[in-house]
Amino acid sequence: MVQLRLPKNSRIRTGKTWPKPTGATNVRKFLIYRYNPDDGQNPRVDTYFVDMDTCGPMVLDALIKIKTEIDPTLTFRRSCREGICGSCSMNIDGQNHLACIYGMDEIKGDVKIYPLPHMPVVKDLVPDLTHFYAQHASIKPWLQTETNAPAKEWRQSIADRKKLDGLYECVMCACCSASCPSYWWNPDRYLGPAALLHANRWIVDSRDEATGERLDDLEDPFKLYRCHTIMNCTQTCPKGLNPARAIAEIKKMMVERTI
Ligand code: SF4
Ligand code: SF4
Ligand code: FES
Repeated sequence: MVQLRLPKNSRIRTGKTWPKPTGATNVRKFLIYRYNPDDGQNPRVDTYFVDMDTCGPMVLDALIKIKTEIDPTLTFRRSCREGICGSCSMNIDGQNHLACIYGMDEIKGDVKIYPLPHMPVVKDLVPDLTHFYAQHASIKPWLQTETNAPAKEWRQSIADRKKLDGLYECVMCACCSASCPSYWWNPDRYLGPAALLHANRWIVDSRDEATGERLDDLEDPFKLYRCHTIMNCTQTCPKGLNPARAIAEIKKMMVERTI
């Protein structure tokens, strides 16, 4: 008989329940994933209660309040608090999102917070994005040119600049890639929606002169064609971008250049 074993640290235990704030009348319950790779223990889910009358409206406000007033060991990334730096991505109420622009009024019942799925965890809500960034670097996310540099700047018409709308706004939060079943299954070989959206951003840039090489690099059964148009990426992107369409456009260019 086949015996299946769960990988190490894949069981989640019930963690500590912190006391409710005294005197508070508007309290919300938070269930938060905790994992410390250095203590040898399985992950756990800790329960916190936050006085909403003294807390800001966003999920990140509550996390900062918990860290500041209740449990300083809670670990998460954040910087801009404006949805620009992409650091506070996590799984909130079952969906990947940026905690700083996700209002708690959008969540019904207890607030459940986990790290981005299918990413190694550094600690608590902090995923290890080393591989994700390496994939981004692999698409050469910079302008490549062969002609001599102009005296002042590489110019672009208004119409050509407009082609970058919906692509340049990506904040590299990884919410899309961490929600993509094809990426979960083949993270080493499939580039994932974020890297492919950036690949498209440079392919369509009128100033770039490496379009052919860029497409050659993606002509691979795994790097690009593992996208099966499941659309989770587009559904989850907290910036309202459409990585699935960007990927479809690359596939279309692959076909067009063979005609
Ligand atoms: S559309 Fe492609 S990239 Fe987006 S979730 Fe589906 S398989 Fe992944
Ligand atoms: S496409 Fe959206 S979800 Fe994906 S990394 Fe960029 S901003 Fe984040
Ligand atoms: S803190 Fe920068 S995007 Fe949330």
